[in-house]
Amino acid sequence: MPTQEEIDRVIESTDMVELVSPFVQLTKQGKNYKGLCPFHNEDTPSFIVSQEKHLAHCFGCGQGGSPITFLMQIKQISFHEALQELAEKAGIQLSNMPNTSRKQDYSKYYEMNKVACEFYQKSLKSTKSGLEALDYLHKRGLDDETIKMFQIGLAPKSRDSLYKVLKDANYLELDMMDIGLVHKNEMGYYDLFTRRIMFPILDENGKHIGFSGRIFENTDSNQPKYVNTKETFLYKKSTVLYHLDLAKSEILKKKRIILHEGQFDVIASARAGLKEAVCAMGTALTQEQAFILRKYAPTVIVCYDGDKAGIQASKKAIVLLKKAKLNVQLVFLPNRMDPDEYVMKYGTEAYAKYFEESIQSELDYLFEVAFFNRDIKDVSQVELIKSEIFSVLSSQRSQTLIHTYLNRLAERIGVSSEIIQRDYRTSFRRNTFTDVPEEIVPEPVFSQVQRNFETRLFLYARESKAQALQIDREIADTLDAFLPIHQKIWVTLINAYYSQNDYFNEELFCKMLNEEQKKSYFEIVESLQKSVDPFNEEDLKKCMEKTKEIHFKNERDRLRKQISQTNDEKVKIEKLTELYQSKSKTSKRRK
Ligand code: CTP
Ligand code: MN
Repeated sequence: MPTQEEIDRVIESTDMVELVSPFVQLTKQGKNYKGLCPFHNEDTPSFIVSQEKHLAHCFGCGQGGSPITFLMQIKQISFHEALQELAEKAGIQLSNMPNTSRKQDYSKYYEMNKVACEFYQKSLKSTKSGLEALDYLHKRGLDDETIKMFQIGLAPKSRDSLYKVLKDANYLELDMMDIGLVHKNEMGYYDLFTRRIMFPILDENGKHIGFSGRIFENTDSNQPKYVNTKETFLYKKSTVLYHLDLAKSEILKKKRIILHEGQFDVIASARAGLKEAVCAMGTALTQEQAFILRKYAPTVIVCYDGDKAGIQASKKAIVLLKKAKLNVQLVFLPNRMDPDEYVMKYGTEAYAKYFEESIQSELDYLFEVAFFNRDIKDVSQVELIKSEIFSVLSSQRSQTLIHTYLNRLAERIGVSSEIIQRDYRTSFRRNTFTDVPEEIVPEPVFSQVQRNFETRLFLYARESKAQALQIDREIADTLDAFLPIHQKIWVTLINAYYSQNDYFNEELFCKMLNEEQKKSYFEIVESLQKSVDPFNEEDLKKCMEKTKEIHFKNERDRLRKQISQTNDEKVKIEKLTELYQSKSKTSKRRK
């Protein structure tokens, strides 16, 4: 373990503002700095950074602390890793760090990969198959400058040419095997990569950590298109982002990152001047990669292949990127193309223009891809489009926004906006209320109205604001018929919720309830799910009648009690009159 004194020195040598800035946009406030907390969602800043005290702390969620704690939390790394990173930055030597010696050993591995990379680059230029490979690259639109910039090379045919090069440079076989360049079988050592175009993979700092090799001769179709370095202590595919080292400066300048699916796409973008492009290597984006991206820019533009797989992968990427608190935008390419194909077909200029003009918000993208490969003339496919878009919208909070997209959908599929609005609401009701698995439907009960009139009124009130207000006009004076807690929930729904919102959203509504009311509300929902009576206008009327009926019964009970308790004749007559009036009111309503 390093000493406490060393730890303190690391903390004191760290500029907290500099450390936090890549993750949080800070504004100065008096002595301190303030920003939106990177650990929880918030609209008003409660994340405070003190340069003087070397502290960062969120008054909202309590996360943060010393520079070491902050780094551990934000990067999800261990104490030692955080300490080491900060010590290195501050140029402080730590004693007795676990694994610190391994760090020094790594340089020899980076170096070995670099030697391999140089060998591959030389092979591309100086061998016969190198000319073939070069021809392939030129045909794919890569000029010599690009090839050099990306350090692209060739792994020759011979089974052990790299092995010999490394051996001559006095590297140990065990080390070559450790970083995944050389294997061994009964015939001896052999190269892992042969007859492939080689893309070196560099880490964020431009150090060589591995390779990706692509076939280029159409000889053996059984070969996988790409072979990448296997997982090693240098090459961890879940954290690798291809081209990040070169993209970094452009990313910081443009404050955005372009995320592609493959390295040819990254190269295509770079050729078109979009040098802020990166990609994961042969894996779906990981949460770790999302966190790494956030260190460099607040926004990621996802531009995957314009096909079904690309859309699926984009949807998954959106989730991870948002978890890392990144703004997500997307570019959808036409005709199932990937960026590399687009550039091949229309050229770099047209691609760059298309790209900039086609950047979409997440919602616009999700709306658009619901139509992908679907025919709006086919009714059943329209239903699929609708349900996909409904499900996207159901997680949205803004009613204005939902309304706008529903209108857009209506226009697109050629139905009236009212119909779509109604469909949206019924789909919502069906999902929440009637998607009940068979086995939990109870035995038929004669009439739910007899008992559950109040809970059923909640259902009708959730369906639409207009309906809710209409019900309320009818029953507002008779609410004593409801259980006391239901009365409170009703009043919140009508007076608080619907005065601010035009559509019912359970999540939003529940935010207005206290714990006890929320519990009761979900009991209502549950009892509705068990209901076997049809929900219709007739039933709605019955429920309202029932409410009034119970109200008047309560009234009469109250009056009778008062009459029986008083000896004052005048009061008795008054109450009796009231009782009589209330009876006639009920019977009038009854007819
Ligand atoms: N990939 C991989 N292993 C494979 C196939 C793909 O590692 N067997 C990775 C590569 O990084 C590739 C990316 O996944 O760039 C996307 O694959 P794909 O869309 O199939 O290929 P393209 O990027 O279009 O590659 P190319 O243009 O060279 O055909
Ligand atoms: Mn491609």
